[in-house]
Amino acid sequence: MKNKILELLKNTDDYVSGQELCERFGVSRTAVWKAINRLKKDGYQIDAIQNRGYRLCGDADVLSQTELEHAIHTQVMGANLVYFEVTDSTNTQAKRLAEEGAPHGTLVVADCQKSGRGRKGRGFDSPGGQSIYMTLLLRPQIAPGNASMLTLVAAIAVQRAISKVAGIKPLIKWPNDIIIGGKKMCGILTEMSMQEDGISYIVIGIGINVQNQTFPDEIKDVATSIFLETGEKANRASIVGAVMEAFEDAYEKFMETQDMTSLLSEYNGLLVNRDEKVRVLDPIAPFEGIARGITNRGELIVETDTEKHMVAYGEVSVRGVYGYV
Ligand code: BTN
Repeated sequence: MKNKILELLKNTDDYVSGQELCERFGVSRTAVWKAINRLKKDGYQIDAIQNRGYRLCGDADVLSQTELEHAIHTQVMGANLVYFEVTDSTNTQAKRLAEEGAPHGTLVVADCQKSGRGRKGRGFDSPGGQSIYMTLLLRPQIAPGNASMLTLVAAIAVQRAISKVAGIKPLIKWPNDIIIGGKKMCGILTEMSMQEDGISYIVIGIGINVQNQTFPDEIKDVATSIFLETGEKANRASIVGAVMEAFEDAYEKFMETQDMTSLLSEYNGLLVNRDEKVRVLDPIAPFEGIARGITNRGELIVETDTEKHMVAYGEVSVRGVYGYV
């Protein structure tokens, strides 16, 4: 009932009377009233005037199964959608669903994570009502050695989606952080499960800071959000929809050659420290050089005076010589 009323209010500019809702859906006044209250609890702003009825107002940023289903228009990516208001970690849930046989393209989204995970065993602060926490489950027929490139494909998809929905142009810090104004707006955590004959599944977890106005002390100097950059409240469901659309397109391009060939120039055009000095934090032999772009295998090309290094994903971290970027 709640969803039917929501659908009607979304498609009507004027007030809709309680009587009309009762008649149209064949339910009692109390049922309508309860449904309206549930919608308000979900975060929708509904104006109620006696003798006129109900009207949906404002552009509330509600993340829910219904909003997400409306915003996702893809064939495969996100076609099977699992939404949690609160969960431990969408990566953990996606892996659980994968073990239970969930299909390629399943998307898990949460409004809040209690045990969000970041790269290198770190936690990922995941408050409710502000960010997007989502994980895409893939079952690609590719060699395991090619799988890490999918994380670069996801970075391209997120970059395209944020540009489209929020009208800003973030860049990518190799391999997969999304950066604007020298600060991080999105992080990606990819995990893979193997079986005897190859990849069983891959989960790509994406955390995007959308409405956040503050961050915990440990990250406040390096983190930003779409709101802090634009001063506007972007709609999270629309961003999820745009990421799915962009990922479906970029994934198809990746699968043509199972490497970055078709996405190379786009990725290199977005590389935040291209032609700038970077420090490669190799635990054995750290070095500095100029970042020149990626290879079609997704490695970062770093040129020193004497050599050209191809830095592989997962081995090392890369920093700007003056800070994070
Ligand atoms: C990083 O930058 O360290 C990666 C952060 C990845 C966070 C996302 S939020 C959705 C998904 N679920 C998790 O527990 N982690 C990823």
